Amino acid sequence: MTKSSTYDLEEVNGIGPKTAQLLQSKGIISARHLALFTPEELIEITDMTPDRAEKILRNARELVFGSRRAVKGSEMTKIYQELPRLTTGVKSVDKLLGGGLEPKATYEFAGEFGTGKTQLCHQLAVTVQLPRDKGGVGGACAYIDTEEAFSPNRVESIAKRFGIDPQQALDNVYVIKVINAADLEDRVKFDLVRLVEQNNVKLVVIDSIIALYRAEFRGRERLAERQQRLNYILDWLMRIAKIYNIYVVLTNQVIDVPLGYIEVKKPAGGNVLAHAVTHRFFLKKSRDDVRVMEVLDSPRLPHKATATFRITDRGVEDA
Ligand SMILES: Nc1ncnc2c1ncn2[C@@H]1O[C@H](COP(=O)(O)OP(=O)(O)OP(=O)(O)O)[C@@H](O)[C@H]1O
Ligand SMILES: [Mg+2]
Repeated sequence: MTKSSTYDLEEVNGIGPKTAQLLQSKGIISARHLALFTPEELIEITDMTPDRAEKILRNARELVFGSRRAVKGSEMTKIYQELPRLTTGVKSVDKLLGGGLEPKATYEFAGEFGTGKTQLCHQLAVTVQLPRDKGGVGGACAYIDTEEAFSPNRVESIAKRFGIDPQQALDNVYVIKVINAADLEDRVKFDLVRLVEQNNVKLVVIDSIIALYRAEFRGRERLAERQQRLNYILDWLMRIAKIYNIYVVLTNQVIDVPLGYIEVKKPAGGNVLAHAVTHRFFLKKSRDDVRVMEVLDSPRLPHKATATFRITDRGVEDA
């Protein structure tokens, strides 16, 4: 992010030095960052009056996005084609994804233990650093690790395979540990945005999105609350993805759902995750080190289409 594309807080109409200082003391670093907030959220953190909160947010949006006009459907095709795709480093998976990951979208990879979710995330943390002509975007990765599964060794091995200096690759991965849902919300709303604006972060990984919520909101009585909080964090990730043009990847665990006499495996997180995520995939074990990735739900990719890949000491590769 260049300084001019994020805008200083004081460039917003109605924000003087005092208000700018107040917002900064609450962790809001730029006008673009401010534009992510809702009036309710701003009131909650600053004690501003509703009128004032609404007014400065409207002015912030106007400054950052201009007077946005509607876009014709015919122009959308071009817009999609021009978005830089991020390679997974696996040809068959890139093909399944329609040429790699698209920015401004969220991807969910669900599957049982050992199906390669974490390996795939490590690989993306490296491929995002590749230059454009090699399928990357020359960016850094923010890796939100909720399962203590981040492995520097894996990043090093994968980096070597892609011709990136292992130490440099690790320097471009910002690992964020979170302890509960409220902590995750804070990290995403403030620290993550700072990394995106100031440290060239282009890819956000949350491995996994569900672990914290399953642990914190236990039992049927707390299910509604759990789903509400999950929806809230997913909404924030989507706001950030859209406004900063970045890639968001989430991993998810599975649950057993009884279906007559048998049990089928479904991604955890229920309808909330199903609605909030853009592209959903299911990972399965095939044989030995081979895994199958299947499209579960996507507005643009064919339902149930599959790709296969292999997990090796060099990361994830074509099978
Ligand atoms: N260095 C390596 N060389 C070869 N295979 C490896 C290596 N490191 C991990 N694996 C394989 O990767 C698999 C684990 O994949 P991964 O950690 O991505 O699973 P996951 O889907 O994230 O599972 P979980 O739900 O438990 O987090 C194991 O089958 C393991 O054998
Ligand atoms: Mg994992």
